[in-house]
Amino acid sequence: MFVEEPMEGEGPRVHPAWLPPEAFRSLGARRILLHGEGLLIDTVLDEVSRACARYGGLVWHSPSWNVDVDLVLALRGADELPNPAVEAARAAGEAALAELGDDGTLGDEGFVLARAGDVTVVLSDAPAGLLYGLFHVVRLCAAAFDPTRPAERHRPALRRRMLNHWDNVAAHPVMGQVERGYAGGSIFWQDGRSRGDLARVREYGRLLASCGVNAISVNNVNVAHTEALLLTERLGDVAEIADALRPYGIRVHLSVSFAAPVILGGLPTADPLDEKVRLWWAATTRRVYDRIPDFGGYLVKADSEGQPGPFTYGRDHADGANLLAEALAPHGGVVHWRAFVYNHHQDWRDRSTDRARAAYDHFAPLDGRFRTNVVVQVKFGPVDFQTREPVSPVLAAMPATRLAVELQVTQEYTGQQRHVCHLGPWWSEVLRFAPWGPGGRTIADVITGEAAAGGGLVAVANVGDDLFWTGHPLAQANLYTFGRLAWDPRRDPTEILDEWITLTFPPSATADAELVRRTLHEIMDDSWRTYERYTAPLGVGFMVNPGDHYGPGVDGYEYTRWGTYHFADRDGVGVDRSRASGTGFTGQYPPYWAQVYESPESCPDELLLFFHHVPYGHVLHSGSTVIQHIYDTHFAGVEEVTAMRRRWQRLNGMIDPSVYQRVAERLDEQVRCATEWRDQINTYFFRKSGVPDERGRDIY
Ligand code: GCU
Repeated sequence: MFVEEPMEGEGPRVHPAWLPPEAFRSLGARRILLHGEGLLIDTVLDEVSRACARYGGLVWHSPSWNVDVDLVLALRGADELPNPAVEAARAAGEAALAELGDDGTLGDEGFVLARAGDVTVVLSDAPAGLLYGLFHVVRLCAAAFDPTRPAERHRPALRRRMLNHWDNVAAHPVMGQVERGYAGGSIFWQDGRSRGDLARVREYGRLLASCGVNAISVNNVNVAHTEALLLTERLGDVAEIADALRPYGIRVHLSVSFAAPVILGGLPTADPLDEKVRLWWAATTRRVYDRIPDFGGYLVKADSEGQPGPFTYGRDHADGANLLAEALAPHGGVVHWRAFVYNHHQDWRDRSTDRARAAYDHFAPLDGRFRTNVVVQVKFGPVDFQTREPVSPVLAAMPATRLAVELQVTQEYTGQQRHVCHLGPWWSEVLRFAPWGPGGRTIADVITGEAAAGGGLVAVANVGDDLFWTGHPLAQANLYTFGRLAWDPRRDPTEILDEWITLTFPPSATADAELVRRTLHEIMDDSWRTYERYTAPLGVGFMVNPGDHYGPGVDGYEYTRWGTYHFADRDGVGVDRSRASGTGFTGQYPPYWAQVYESPESCPDELLLFFHHVPYGHVLHSGSTVIQHIYDTHFAGVEEVTAMRRRWQRLNGMIDPSVYQRVAERLDEQVRCATEWRDQINTYFFRKSGVPDERGRDIY
């Protein structure tokens, strides 16, 4: 039996993602004592009760009786209990914590897990810590009860681990219900109103909490009229979502229009320095907190791709962000102000304007001017969520500003959840990048706030009302991985994937667990690099169909206003961003990378065409010429996808048939689309360059 029927009261009939009941088997067979009070403790109680009802375990909630237990989950501050075994376990947890050092601090969300004789104990300072501790026990399965397991303390490296939903309340005529959404409709909104399916929202909150996410924004950063109203007359809809997510420790944020004082407040201006505008934001924000006391704050896309912003009034981004920050500050809220600002009316003939430079040019000079409750949210790369880009230099240029990195879990440019493209390794590369040079501080250090206050990790979400949440069932792993990396950005992404596999395809429910694990690793581990191989080469980016961004369109954006060009001609390809002869973008990096990127000789192969325009015969560090590299990688990419499809077939009959079928269909599409990419790219460059493939393969 593969598909487990939900038990009564177990929530909606959707795929359980990485929390199938079977993943709770080990936990659910134990005798568990939970000690503490609070909303999130009730959630923990609900979780353990459901697991134990299914698998025969027992649950006690304090005050306790004289019972034998296998697992104690307790708040440190909770009263003593009249149960020697439980008190001994708590004492052992305390002792372990003291031994781990660092003042024994756990913070709002941390926990310690230790063994005390035959008992496993999880202690936390606050209810959220117990919820995270519980999911840790679930992940560990039987290992959580291993008598030799050493004590461990866990605290999130990042305070805010946030997903941005680009969901529209009213379906947009071009972008639909979810902008760049590849998993059906929105789980929050439909046809201009709230869906009211709070059971699904709650289920979503549960999935997010189990991987560590603690904040979401519920509407698109492009805020149209209906969406603007969420701040005022439709605030009730936001409050309902907040109520559904609160039991999972998730705070709700809202994308707002900078023009709200005009659109909603009837004021003649939205000038950030206008007193009436300030008062409007203060009063409006107060009303938001009256209704949603733990409201997270605002997310703003201003003066970007047509969204309103402070430029209209001759003010800058610091003026704009500080206006909202001031309104939020008395309530503990925060503004996420996006740095995705560039000129989207470019002319390809103008070689001096470079979209890659834009965020730095706009924001770096403002360092030090933002209030402390402003987080400047920076896309990980300087252009736009490409399969390969250098890390944004803004992240090394604003030491006096709280910075967050923005990732894209929704696979806009990475196969749109029709292709397997596991992004963990890519994100991890970004987070480990050391912008001041090897061995120095990393992006993970910047966002955790190692030197100054960090701003956290944010990602554009990939879920919708699809049965599998993410369209492609294997794309669930990207969501899970995002949460786990946000909890600890230094973790190994392959290990995280392994965790996801064990939870999603519990070994106890599969005939050959090792085969399932191995096959999934073989398909997913390197899938991002495979995707890179058959799409735009060597970091040049784009080459996608305009508009929907799916499939190859080599010159799709080449002569448009969007500023994403590759400049291929008969002699060569790539964008000269050097200081010596190009746009000077390399100069935005600290000296080490400014120098490495400056010359085609030292620039890493995978980014060569992002930084340089080179002849097709240019020899890469790999020893191959650029043109031969293009041919080889594109042939290899398709072969790898074909191998993925073959491997997947091994799992037929071994896993949930509906998952098997959905993935099989998408792999067919991936093979088709990768082949199209290969042929279009190879043909394009063969005809441009006239250089034949040295291995004589078919190029059309
Ligand atoms: C991309 C994407 C848009 C989105 C924008 C953003 O350009 O294609 O749909 O609005 O990013 O990040 O704001």
